Amino acid sequence: MLESDIAEVTNIEQQANTFPWSRKHFESSLKAGHQAWVFSNDQNEILGFTIVQQILDETHLLNICVKPTVQGKGYGREILNYVIKFSNSISSNIILLEVRQTNLRAQQLYLNSGFNEMAVRKNYYPSDNGSEDAILMAMDLSLMSLFASK
Ligand SMILES: CC(C)(COP(=O)(O)OP(=O)(O)OC[C@H]1O[C@@H](n2cnc3c(N)ncnc32)[C@H](O)[C@@H]1OP(=O)(O)O)[C@@H](O)C(=O)NCCC(=O)NCCS
Repeated sequence: MLESDIAEVTNIEQQANTFPWSRKHFESSLKAGHQAWVFSNDQNEILGFTIVQQILDETHLLNICVKPTVQGKGYGREILNYVIKFSNSISSNIILLEVRQTNLRAQQLYLNSGFNEMAVRKNYYPSDNGSEDAILMAMDLSLMSLFASK
């Protein structure tokens, strides 16, 4: 993700989320050196994006989003697989993420990909009713590499 992508990324983020990240949020994420990728089609149209933050041996998935008009076509899974491969390539031990309790679609994607529910963070997100809990989910990569090496 380049600075020149931020306008379209913010646009997609706003279409896809009720409480979206702002343009400033994306700008500071890039400035902070978070790893950020956009996924485009042959016409260079951005279809989705993801942002991760590496903290020691932990990969924190900060954002993953697919443009609403192309959701449900497997792009979300592809983007998540990219993050898993990237995390493995830098010998990360774990991928962590928070997801809204009501976001069953995303939870299903994570569970099907091998993430487990670790904890509930009470009132983590703003919501129409005031606040909403987050589910903390994790994928243990150290365990995966153990199996892969056998
Ligand atoms: C969550 C998101 C990234 C998934 O991307 P996507 O391209 O729509 O998902 P995919 O087509 O790759 O589907 C992946 C899995 O999601 C789940 N899924 C997809 N569409 C679904 C639907 N309509 N209902 C329930 N689950 C669904 C399924 O488990 C699916 O796996 P399957 O194809 O094996 O059944 C996308 O919906 C999105 O950007 N949502 C808004 C932003 C968001 O919620 N981000 C996550 C924040 S934690």
